[in-house]
Amino acid sequence: MGSNLCLLLKEKNPDYKIIALDNLKRRGSELNIPSLKNAGIEFVHGDIRQKGDLDLIEQPLDFIIDAAAEPSVLAGMGPTLNYVLDTNLGGTINTLEFAARKKAKFIFLSTSRVYPIEYLEQLKYHESDTRFIIDAAQEIPGISPAGIAENFPLDKARSVYGTTKLASELMIEEFRAFFGVDYVINRCGVIAGPYQMGKVDQGVVTLWVSRHFWKKPVSYFGYGGTGKQVRDVLHILDLFDLIDYEMTNFDVVSGKTMNAGGGIPSSTSLCELTELCRLITGNTVEAIPVLQNRQGDIPLYITDNSRITTTTGWMPKRNMTNVIQDIFEWIRTNEKQLKQILDA
Ligand SMILES: NC(=O)c1ccc[n+]([C@@H]2O[C@H](COP(=O)([O-])OP(=O)(O)OC[C@H]3O[C@@H](n4cnc5c(N)ncnc54)[C@H](O)[C@@H]3O)[C@@H](O)[C@H]2O)c1
Repeated sequence: MGSNLCLLLKEKNPDYKIIALDNLKRRGSELNIPSLKNAGIEFVHGDIRQKGDLDLIEQPLDFIIDAAAEPSVLAGMGPTLNYVLDTNLGGTINTLEFAARKKAKFIFLSTSRVYPIEYLEQLKYHESDTRFIIDAAQEIPGISPAGIAENFPLDKARSVYGTTKLASELMIEEFRAFFGVDYVINRCGVIAGPYQMGKVDQGVVTLWVSRHFWKKPVSYFGYGGTGKQVRDVLHILDLFDLIDYEMTNFDVVSGKTMNAGGGIPSSTSLCELTELCRLITGNTVEAIPVLQNRQGDIPLYITDNSRITTTTGWMPKRNMTNVIQDIFEWIRTNEKQLKQILDA
């Protein structure tokens, strides 16, 4: 997300001075550095867990977009637990302190994973031939056929990943109240697009397109192995439109926490995703059913964008076909370089 936002912001606003800081933990992030440098974006090799690394940036800053994280839900469930805590929570606190010193506005990419798994598992749905669909009648507040809204309850477990992001949200509010850091929090569902180094535990759309591109099987984990679990997917260009709006209309969004996702028009089940990938890449791959549920998985998540659309007028313009087509073009154009990461 960070690389994309840097490049798109620079393309739209050539006079912006943009600095990208990354510790290159995610395999493949290093492949994005040449395009950043060619676009006139300064790259700082730094780690947000180290306050001193943030201080490598000496220039004054108007905005900080916090997009450095370990974004995998599964990463918080194993030996990488401490990395998730130290980066997603500790690193965000360091970045907030840095924002306070720089008097910079803070844009936080939070996640739909702040919403508890137990409640998401209780949402009522029915099945069509290809996907789960949210029922009209629900017992839990904050769910409707339009998706999950911000008044969804927050009081149960949500995964360590989700908790680091929710705890960061709480700290962001503290930094607003006591250190004057002005912020906006976007709780995003799945985001996808070119430059995302998709892997089995994170970046499902890139993973699916790459599996089709290199003709490798895909797996449907859990929920009977039918591939009917559903997510909405936000195209990176739609996220960019939102961030660009927020930067230029900060007074409208200041202090707000809003869900932002693809919504129903840009949602897919796994088996629908397979079919779209088949149509776009021209390749058919085997889909292997795996009956056992994956830890922390949920049957269905769709973003209810009502609050953000009412507040800003923003709504996603792209759909699943656009997302898959753009990822496919990116892989096709950079096949040799990406094979070592995406087809490893
Ligand atoms: N991709 C999604 O579907 C999605 C959905 C909701 C929220 N988000 C949030 O958006 C943000 C960006 O996610 P992404 O999909 O681009 O993930 P990503 O893994 O592609 O990018 C995160 C970047 O952070 C870097 N990084 C990791 N630890 C770091 C550290 N300690 N110091 C400095 N850099 C570090 C990685 O090298 C990587 O380049 C994250 O905060 C994530 O929680 C992502």
